[in-house]
Amino acid sequence: MAENLSRRSVFRASAGAAVLASSASASPLVATPAAAAPAVPQTGSAGVARRTAAAGPARPDAKTERRVRKLLARMTVEEKFGQLQQLTWNPDTGPGEGQNEAAREAAAEGRLGSVLNITGAKECNELQRYAVEESRLGIPLIFGLDVIHGFLTTFPVPLAQGASFDPDVVTRDAEVSAREAASWGVHWTFAPMADVSHEPRWGRIAEGSGEDPYLTAQLTAAKVRGYQGEDYAADGRLAACVKHFVGYGFPEGGRDYNTVDISERRLRDMALPPFKAAVDAGVATVMASFNTVNGVPAHANRHTLSAILHEEFGFDGFVVGDYNGVQELIPHGVAADGADAARLALGAGVDMEMVSTTYADNGKALLESGQIELERLDDAVARILRVKMRLGLFEKPYTDEDGEIAEPTASTRRHARETAAACAVLLKNEEHTLPFGKDTSSLAVIGPLGDDTQELHGTWAGPGARKFPAVSVLEGVKKAVPDAKVTFARGCDVTGDDTGGFAKAVAAVQASDAAVVVVGEKASHSGEAAVRSDITLPGVQEELIRRIAKTGKPFAVVVLAGRPLVLSGVVKQAPAILNAWHPGLEGGNAVADVLFGKVNPGGRLPTTYPRAVGQLAVYYGHENTGRPYNPDDKYTSKYLDLPHGPLFPFGHGLSYTTFGYSGLELSEKSVSARAVREGGAKVEVKVKVENTGRRAGDEVVQLYIRDKVASIAQPVRRLRGFERITLKPGEGRTVAFELGADDLGFHTNDPQGELLVEPGEFEIYAGGSSEARLHTTLTLT
Ligand code: BGC
Repeated sequence: MAENLSRRSVFRASAGAAVLASSASASPLVATPAAAAPAVPQTGSAGVARRTAAAGPARPDAKTERRVRKLLARMTVEEKFGQLQQLTWNPDTGPGEGQNEAAREAAAEGRLGSVLNITGAKECNELQRYAVEESRLGIPLIFGLDVIHGFLTTFPVPLAQGASFDPDVVTRDAEVSAREAASWGVHWTFAPMADVSHEPRWGRIAEGSGEDPYLTAQLTAAKVRGYQGEDYAADGRLAACVKHFVGYGFPEGGRDYNTVDISERRLRDMALPPFKAAVDAGVATVMASFNTVNGVPAHANRHTLSAILHEEFGFDGFVVGDYNGVQELIPHGVAADGADAARLALGAGVDMEMVSTTYADNGKALLESGQIELERLDDAVARILRVKMRLGLFEKPYTDEDGEIAEPTASTRRHARETAAACAVLLKNEEHTLPFGKDTSSLAVIGPLGDDTQELHGTWAGPGARKFPAVSVLEGVKKAVPDAKVTFARGCDVTGDDTGGFAKAVAAVQASDAAVVVVGEKASHSGEAAVRSDITLPGVQEELIRRIAKTGKPFAVVVLAGRPLVLSGVVKQAPAILNAWHPGLEGGNAVADVLFGKVNPGGRLPTTYPRAVGQLAVYYGHENTGRPYNPDDKYTSKYLDLPHGPLFPFGHGLSYTTFGYSGLELSEKSVSARAVREGGAKVEVKVKVENTGRRAGDEVVQLYIRDKVASIAQPVRRLRGFERITLKPGEGRTVAFELGADDLGFHTNDPQGELLVEPGEFEIYAGGSSEARLHTTLTLT
């Protein structure tokens, strides 16, 4: 208290002039006012703006702006509303039927701006011809698709990629995916998903980078760079769409689409930073989210869309609504009918309407009655035209039909395999159960996902998932130890209560030196509208593990899932657990690489693993409460029936080697808060990390801070830096981080986005998880 009162000076700034979070810019910790850090637009060969990746929000270049204005001046009101309409394509019926026919007609009449879910260079070109060659102004359509973690080559689900703690890993997926999808006529991906979430019941946690805003911001920006490159007009690139704006990851009860009531400061400190990072990385578009934000649906939310996204972040691309999201303002209870929904959504800042047609149906009348302003309509159209011009669509509306990529290549498969191995997290490894020796003479592969080639692709996989079966764990194991006797017994299904296969599974284990039990979730258990109230292993899989444990044979459990599961029961039984997520096309090979030690696991958990569903929400960056947990004091914050804390903390992951930390040092022990806030002063943090074991391995060096006393209670820890490094046995390296205003500051509930950097003490922790012990103190004066 005394310390709190002694704080005389508090440095304030509105977020309009402050970077909300350290973005993934080249110098991520520099607190440069956003308005002063525009990208430098240069004119590219196609006459479109070229941007330096991650140089700040894209800024219009004069030539593109002139073109936009000229075209806008020629457009009728119908054509303007046409640009704001996106319709979906039905790949099953093909052109000439139902909704596809409607899309062709609208394209030919200049009443359509975009189509989603259409793929194939030929099919895309055919539809594009209606817009380009038949419509009055020939404005090309932009084709969008959910390219989430691969197109032909499936990479691990995004949550898995979060576990890599490696922006390069994420970029590589985006680059491969962009190349494949672009060759099929796709211009625009509805990715990355930047929704931070504390909710493992929520199936869409699979699509994001986990619970931490800093990690998510870094990886979101890396993904944007991967899809878009320096210039998304270039061949093999896609325009990206960061989604879902905003707060979608905090639904009550974890139920998809559900209410989100989030304080302004949490919105700004937890949900918004990844979106800001995406805008700073030059993301082309943003998608609005289905949820309400403090009572106002995101599709009708002027505060988030206009005040924050447009004005504070300086975003000049366009906002697309989510599927029917504008129409859904009616059941939300804020719009009386379609006209009302259109008025609210367009007024708030949704530029393009996905699938529902309230803009097209009501726009003209709303304009005539003054309920929509022409200026806002023109702004929405200009935003869409700007992105189409930046994409080079006017110069190159068609895709080369001979250039369509047919299948994953050896090189993309290698990337997928390396990525899946890099994302695997070794949760437990008692008595060095893993890695199995290459000399293993017999091994039993057990479990319902042991020979699976489909579920491994995970949720939201691309068209490749239907054509190219994933490498199963069984196949990967057989290839890794070709001389061993490998037997397989499923034991049970992923779901259901049939234990009829247990006896055969147990016999197979008894007849082998060791076993791998491959369990988890189906692809359909996570993703959109895939919410589970019980996130333990489905069916009788846990019972299967119990039976295997009784054999006394060494075994490892491999968990394949799209969310953090409650693994308390598994931890009790299994000597070793490898969490390999839904690992994608090369999953089985990657798992085998880790099981047999070809790859030393280096993934770390991007979310906290709960002990029980009843413990949710459990996340590392919580506040302390006035009665923090104390085992000896009943009246402290805890559960009567659960040990305190998570099963596995955020950032946790084991290795086949060990790492030691020492020499945590600050460039200055004390620095003025004013210098940090206003002068851009930074404190350098250094720590020495050493491989103290006998194998080379990857360590994710993590930096956390705790603001001990602040005018608003702060999280007990906040991740503010990480670096994945590879060290040989005995090798040491000093890793350096910088802390600036974004790291040491926080937001208040002020809707203007006030960022405070307050004097006081900060604990600075470095180590291999969110429970790192090594720490020092920084004082802001
Ligand atoms: C999802 C979005 C997705 C869109 C288009 C919606 O249901 O919420 O994430 O991009 O569909 O497929």
